[in-house]
Amino acid sequence: MKTKTLMGAMVIAGAALSTVPVLAADPATNLLSAMCSGCHGTDGSSRGPTIPSIAGMNAEYFVDSMKAFRDGTRAATVMTRIAKGYTDQEIEAMAQYFAAQKLVRFPQSFDPKLAERGKRLHENYCEKCHEDGGMKSDEAGVLAGQMMPYLRFSLDDFLQGRREIDKKMKAKVDDLLAAEGKEGLEAVVHFYGSQHDK
Ligand code: HEC
Ligand code: HEC
Repeated sequence: MKTKTLMGAMVIAGAALSTVPVLAADPATNLLSAMCSGCHGTDGSSRGPTIPSIAGMNAEYFVDSMKAFRDGTRAATVMTRIAKGYTDQEIEAMAQYFAAQKLVRFPQSFDPKLAERGKRLHENYCEKCHEDGGMKSDEAGVLAGQMMPYLRFSLDDFLQGRREIDKKMKAKVDDLLAAEGKEGLEAVVHFYGSQHDK
């Protein structure tokens, strides 16, 4: 029996709401990952508007993101410095830990009409890679339920060239902007923000 830490108590409280979270077997990894919770939320489900959720994140995407922050090839406000503190092995271990956590999508305020329009646009322009309405976390991160201000920053980083963008995604975003304008992209953000658990 492990000692009950605050983290542990929060995990137990969370368990009542959903399925029991899978904890990594290695206590060192739990400790390592606890360093991230202050910003990314308990077990990686964020409540901070500009901070992305990392729970349930595809491990490969997680590792690529951390290495890109560390190399400085992906623009960031704080993660460049944080990522420099971890070895490849620690990053791998944390990737496995967070991939095994259940993502809790907290409610955000959104415009239902825009979200409805965004749903259709998502299907036309984004669904091919961000499957199940952006619910599936594959090598393209988590979009459904992701914090809306964070999504806006991410899209802006891509469009301004501060973050490398998949060529095919760039083509789709450009098509969407040409056909629907900036409001079209904002509508897609509202669609992702409209998806929550409770
Ligand atoms: C001081 C707050 C803070 C801490 C602590 C922190 N992060 Fe972050 N994290 C952020 C912010 C903000 C971003 C968005 C990129 C940026 O601006 O730095 C981010 C982005 C990320 C991303 C990319 C997510 C995506 O959707 O692409 C990953 C992965 C990540 N953090 C992992 C971690 C891990 C692992 C730790 C603990 C070792 C950690 N973070 C600690 C604030 C934080
Ligand atoms: C051809 C595949 C493809 C299409 C189509 C596509 N994306 Fe992406 N998207 C990706 C990939 C790959 C990444 C991960 C980039 C990376 O590794 O940094 C990504 C990442 C993102 C991110 C950043 C997620 C994060 O956690 O930081 C956002 C936001 C996003 N896409 C929005 C969109 C929107 C909106 C559309 C439709 C207009 C779209 N994408 C269409 C492949 C695609």
